[in-house]
Amino acid sequence: MISRKLRTAVRYFKYSLSARSKFKVHSPFVFKFYTGLILDKNPQAAFSRIEKQRSLLLRQRSLLETTDFGTGAGQNEYKTRFRQVRSITRGSSISPKFGALIYRLVKYTEPDEILEVGTAMGISTLYIAAAAPKSNIVTIEGCAVIAEKARENFNHMGIGNIELVMGNFNHLLAKTVSDFDKLDFVLIDGNHRKKPTLDYFSQILPKLHPGSMVVIDDIHWSKGMEEAWDEIRKHESVTVSIDLFRTGILLFKENIAKENFVLRF
Ligand SMILES: C[S@@+](CC[C@H](N)C(=O)[O-])C[C@H]1O[C@@H](n2cnc3c(N)ncnc32)[C@H](O)[C@@H]1O
Repeated sequence: MISRKLRTAVRYFKYSLSARSKFKVHSPFVFKFYTGLILDKNPQAAFSRIEKQRSLLLRQRSLLETTDFGTGAGQNEYKTRFRQVRSITRGSSISPKFGALIYRLVKYTEPDEILEVGTAMGISTLYIAAAAPKSNIVTIEGCAVIAEKARENFNHMGIGNIELVMGNFNHLLAKTVSDFDKLDFVLIDGNHRKKPTLDYFSQILPKLHPGSMVVIDDIHWSKGMEEAWDEIRKHESVTVSIDLFRTGILLFKENIAKENFVLRF
C-alpha cells in the first residue's frame, strides 16, 4: 500500500506543476490580493505571543483521553485514545506560516461574524482573534477534553470574544449556523472527508454574502478532500477560488469573472 506521505508528495508534485507565480496572474484583483496579502511576510506582534503559547503546549507531556469524530474514527462515529497534549498540538494545529496567513485574510475581510469548524487547541482561533479582537467568533470542537484545553488557552491569552461550542459538527453545525444572521469569515478545518466537507459548505452557504470569505484547510489531504474542493470551488456562488495546496480560499465577490487560481505559497 502506498504510504500517506508518498501520496501527499505526489499530490504536491501535481500542485507544483500547475501552481502559478505572480507573473502569471492576469486578474488585477487577484494579483493585488496575492502579492499584497497572501505573500505578505511582515510579522505582527501578536504572532510571537501566539507562538509562545504554542511552545508551552508543545512542552506538555500530560495525557488526555481524546474522542475523535473525524477521519481518525474511520468507519465508526468516534474513537477514543490517549494522546499527549504536545502531540495533539503538533499534529492538529495550523503552522505558524498558515496562522499568519489566516490572520491577514481575517484582517482583509474585516468580519463581524466568524465561524471556525474545528478548534483543536485553538491555535488558529488565536490567529483569528488577534486579527478580529472585536468580532463575534464561534468555534466548534467535538472532543470535550481538547475543547477544555482550548478554553484554557483563550483565557490564558486574555481573549474574551471567542465562544467555544462543544459537539459533533454533524449534529451541531446546522443549529450553530442558524444562530448567525450572516457569516463574514469561515474556516473549515475538521473532519477532512468528502461528504462531511460538502455538507458543511452547504450548511454555511445560506449565510454567506458577496463580502464573505471561506477558507478550507487540507484541501489536498486525500482524494476525497480534493474532490470536495473541486465541487465546492465550482459552485455557482463562488467567483474566485485560490488553491495554496495546504489551504483553499473562496471568495464570493460580484462583478468579477469566475476563475480558479493555483498559486505558489
Ligand atoms: C485539524 S484540527 C483543528 C485545528 C485548528 N483549526 C488549528 O489549526 O489550531 C480538527 C479538529 O476538529 C475536530 N473534529 C473533527 N471531526 C469532528 C466532528 N465531526 N465533530 C466535531 N469535531 C470534530 C477534531 O477533534 C480536531 O480537534
